[in-house]
Amino acid sequence: MNIDVILKELTLEEKASLCSGSDAWHTQPIPRLDIPAVMVSDGPHGLRKVNETADMSNQAAIEAVCFPCACATACSFDRELLSTMGKALGQSCKAEKVDVLLGPGCNIKRSPLCGRNFEYFSEDPYLATEIATAHIKGVQSMGVGTSLKHFACNNQETRRMTCSANMDERTFFEIYAAAFEGAVKNAKPYTIMCSYNKLNNVYCSENAFTLTDVLRKKWGFKGLVMSDWGAVNNRPLGVQAGLDLEMPTSHGVNDALIVEAVKSGKLDEKDLDRVVRNVLELVNKAESNSDETVTWDKQAQHELARKIARESAVLLRNEDSILPLDKSSKIAFIGEFANTPRYQGSGSSHINSFKVTSALEAVKNYCDVDYAKGYATDTDEADDKLINEAVECAKRNDVAVIFAGLTDIYESEGFDRKHMRMPSNQLTLIDRICEVCSNVVVVLHNGSPVELPFAAKVKGILEMYLGGQAVGSATCDLLFGEANPCGKLSETFPLKLSDNPSYLNFPGHMDDVQYKEGIFVGYRYYDYKQIEPMYPFGHGLSYTTFEYSDMKLSSQTISSTDELTVSVNVTNTGKFEGKEVVQLYVTDDLCSYTRPIRELKGFEKISLKPGETKKVMFKLDRRAFAFYCTDAHDWIVEEGDFTISLGSSSRDIRTSCSVYISSDDIIPIQLTVNSTFGDIISIPEGKKKLEELFDKINTDISSAQTDETMGAAAKKMVEAMMWEMPIRAVLSFTGKPIMTYKELENLISELNDELGQRS
Ligand code: BGC
Repeated sequence: MNIDVILKELTLEEKASLCSGSDAWHTQPIPRLDIPAVMVSDGPHGLRKVNETADMSNQAAIEAVCFPCACATACSFDRELLSTMGKALGQSCKAEKVDVLLGPGCNIKRSPLCGRNFEYFSEDPYLATEIATAHIKGVQSMGVGTSLKHFACNNQETRRMTCSANMDERTFFEIYAAAFEGAVKNAKPYTIMCSYNKLNNVYCSENAFTLTDVLRKKWGFKGLVMSDWGAVNNRPLGVQAGLDLEMPTSHGVNDALIVEAVKSGKLDEKDLDRVVRNVLELVNKAESNSDETVTWDKQAQHELARKIARESAVLLRNEDSILPLDKSSKIAFIGEFANTPRYQGSGSSHINSFKVTSALEAVKNYCDVDYAKGYATDTDEADDKLINEAVECAKRNDVAVIFAGLTDIYESEGFDRKHMRMPSNQLTLIDRICEVCSNVVVVLHNGSPVELPFAAKVKGILEMYLGGQAVGSATCDLLFGEANPCGKLSETFPLKLSDNPSYLNFPGHMDDVQYKEGIFVGYRYYDYKQIEPMYPFGHGLSYTTFEYSDMKLSSQTISSTDELTVSVNVTNTGKFEGKEVVQLYVTDDLCSYTRPIRELKGFEKISLKPGETKKVMFKLDRRAFAFYCTDAHDWIVEEGDFTISLGSSSRDIRTSCSVYISSDDIIPIQLTVNSTFGDIISIPEGKKKLEELFDKINTDISSAQTDETMGAAAKKMVEAMMWEMPIRAVLSFTGKPIMTYKELENLISELNDELGQRS
């Protein structure tokens, strides 16, 4: 369709109607002009296509495949794997005639309590960028669109439709917007979904700063922005700010407001044309992608889901190499989750799985196990009978594998957790089993970190997260060594909730959510505060061991515009074939702004046979060294030394090297009469000006206000006070008047001119 022609033919009412859905899952068709509807469906880890005639009260979905949730897949640190999963998702959409799959979600995990963390990737924006990029590219390579969500700063479920995420500019760009920026630039999602909440008191569905200034102007986004379902507050304002499509339908109510606003002159029709053009471009894309011949093989995708779950699981603990299990030993599986695994979360991402494999079923391929239920999932109350049966079962066997975690009532879209504890009946069960069995392994099914008070008492902990419908098979593959664990935590497991940086401000007071911890989210905070976590970001064990050697940089000195190549040799020094995630962290050694101790800026996952060595290469560009400078309103690299560290986790750094980076980036400075002597002297131009001034009154600037008779302490005090004294004090603190206020203002303005010319 020729959009320029169509735009001329559309009536005002028709244009307005294109700005909202026709129902829950379709855009508005206009048969008169042969404009078809586009169909969208949730996402993100499976296809939740509801019956096409469904209204909002009937959301029965077709049978599909539930892949592991984002909390798990991010731990794979595997771009290729995510891309393969994306392709499979794209294929299912294609076969089911869905044009846009809603997801992935790349909101940052600010608190472990966020009910929807299972749908998000990480506490780290670089990892979230890379994983989201791979997911989007995979889906879109099949000719199906994605919707990167929820833009922006939707980091909690409590009052999600009215609360305001209140934060400073650096925190926004460096942490919460960064994964969206990366994914938008690298993967070009067809659409973005704006979030329900406000950002700094402006609804994200009518936020010109996020939707236009940042998304389109700074990042160059060319696709369509749709609202989260029901996120629209003021529709005409949304059109003006850059929200193209309201979802779902508002039954014509908001379309009429758009028409009214255009007629009354409150909304420029050009703004309406702009959003209609974005809608029509999506229609064009969907039409040109259409392919009636595609089919999908659910069973093959089930096997892929199993593989992804295996590659995403994180082995948190493995004392005495309790894992992999010896098939010939007597093994007990304990816990309801062994029989009915918790493998996905509740809410809009809930998939109607065509089949689910439990560990109890899958273990039959390996050996016979004894089983006891241990606890019920519809209550937290310990059931003595179930526990006693489980204790007897553990006693009869050599090893007890307890399947535990969070039940549905604990975490979901729509609400946040109140604490980080596991259900008390499960904790009691684990304690009681540990009393009678010294070989206990805990398999966890949860969407977000939990406190692990039993960790020291058990020998093994295998974190399967919400591992998708094939999680039972994947778990057995790992338990019995058919596969070697290779996932790494994409988030910190704090020892206790109160250690978390957002603890004092989550979920905020009423609608006011203050992000007071700023950029210190996740490991950035635990590292800086020297807080020992239960398990650090990037942690994950393997059945084998890896050694790092011969780290090299392409140069010891580079300019901030150059690329730096980093290489290291990694050797499998154990007996199992396995995969290592080599993590690269950057430290800015002497930044004048506070920066985290280390930040993830690269990772590579490699597979090694026993004894094998491979060279791993990284390329770092200027962004790897930059921070968001609020004075420059941009990313800058400050000249100086940086340390590049390579490790197996954020707290297991194996080798590091230094590089000096020269940079022409300038932090803009605006001096005033209240700028301090210290600030002015630290700028060469300022120092020169002050020296000239002090020459005039025959005083050496370095000894101004001090003299030989002063003791060391008094001298130190006067110097410190002088350093932090505003320059206006020259008017009164010198023995005699040296200038007028006007002359001082002129001096400052001359300096500002000189500094301006510098940039
Ligand atoms: C969720 C979105 C989802 C949409 C459609 C909303 O409640 O926040 O993530 O895509 O519903 O189901």
